[in-house]
Amino acid sequence: MTRRQWDSSRYVDDRPAQQIFRVHRDVYADPALFELEQRYIFERSWAFLCHESQLPKAHDYIATHIGRQPVLVTRDAKGQLRGFLNACRHKGAQLTRMDSGNKRYHVCAYHGWGYDSSGRNVDIKDAKAGGYPAAFASDNHDLLPLAQLASYKGLVFGSLSAEVQPLEEHLGGLRPVMDLALDQGEHGMEFVPGRISLIYHGNWKMQMDNGIDPYHLTSTHAGFMDVMGRRRDGEGNQAARQFDWQKRLSQQGGAFLFKNGHSAIWLNQAEVEKRPIYPAIEAIRARVGDTRADWMLKLRNLTVFPNMQIADSTSLLVRSWRALAVDRTELRYWCLAPVGEPAAQRAWRLRQFEDFFNVSGMATPDDTVLYEDMQRGLAGDSREHGMGWLQGHTRGISDLRPGADEAAQALGLQPEACMQGLFDTQTETAFIPVYREWARLMQAGAERDGKV
Ligand code: FES
Ligand SMILES: [Fe+2]
Repeated sequence: MTRRQWDSSRYVDDRPAQQIFRVHRDVYADPALFELEQRYIFERSWAFLCHESQLPKAHDYIATHIGRQPVLVTRDAKGQLRGFLNACRHKGAQLTRMDSGNKRYHVCAYHGWGYDSSGRNVDIKDAKAGGYPAAFASDNHDLLPLAQLASYKGLVFGSLSAEVQPLEEHLGGLRPVMDLALDQGEHGMEFVPGRISLIYHGNWKMQMDNGIDPYHLTSTHAGFMDVMGRRRDGEGNQAARQFDWQKRLSQQGGAFLFKNGHSAIWLNQAEVEKRPIYPAIEAIRARVGDTRADWMLKLRNLTVFPNMQIADSTSLLVRSWRALAVDRTELRYWCLAPVGEPAAQRAWRLRQFEDFFNVSGMATPDDTVLYEDMQRGLAGDSREHGMGWLQGHTRGISDLRPGADEAAQALGLQPEACMQGLFDTQTETAFIPVYREWARLMQAGAERDGKV
């Protein structure tokens, strides 16, 4: 890629009038693009960081990343959430190696500078004897705050860039779909303690695609569907409710495509009584109305571009990823649940979560192995072997309609476009906003850098 060659249409072929939407193999496999994504996408967008329920007490902290940058989210002595670069002002050492904990003071392991949970520098080791010039004393030594930190219904997002639009605007039209998960609990939602984490040897977009990809279910997860069927017949572990996947295959579903890279897929749920919120559904109806309560029982998976997904399928999951290399990605999953949920429903939720989503479960390993197969299949130099434009972003495109269909209207959504059809359409249209935004941000970044 020379400076003159940058053009996002080389990577995303987006021609709506001709119903053409294609993504190039390089988007998943070119190390040079990976470097640019860090700067132009992850480090310039809103990033999902954590859930407020992970920091219930003063001085609790969560360590995570925005792009390549380690960041720290803390709850200070007054209970306020704060976000910082997780980097000592002295010489930049990452302040904590732990993912989470409770610390009134963060003391750097290198030369011992100390910071309180509000980020204030409270100690420069042996400062008085240090022969520092007067100008040093007037410097600010506090941790550098994130340019942006904001929460949406308990989900905490941050940005390294001051130029992002307000979080609610960024989430935009997707918010009412997110609310179908985030409003399930009368007293709010929480992450169940603990998390799943894993690293797969594949590009981050493979997970981003897969979380809104209904097409792979009947092939990738055939084994899981088979186990559920055998359990329904009385074999093996009976702790989780066993869905009859065949009943899903005749259902109506669709996709909502939003601005800013967000999208969602949905499917009518044939066996609503197997959903963990089902015992509470009458109370939920009274609180949120019939339409939204019915939608809470449907299967809904959504992507909040660029680094998180909510999946409400067998159980309710929040997933986030961190791109480590063009072919290496760290995933983290949490089980999302209503605050104050009765123990029996919490156990039901967790058993279904373990079955499907756990790293040792019966669906996640099937998916991640396929990401690695994809990455292997996309190796080599595409200019030599001819594997350029992929054919996996097109299903359902001729069913796309601009604006809101009746499903979107019922929910008060204002998507850019929608599609609807029986399950076997297994639409790939939810990928369109994601790669359209990828292309927009990459192009904008290249233009800022003078690569065009
Ligand atoms: S790098 Fe932190 S005290 Fe020196
Ligand atoms: Fe899957």
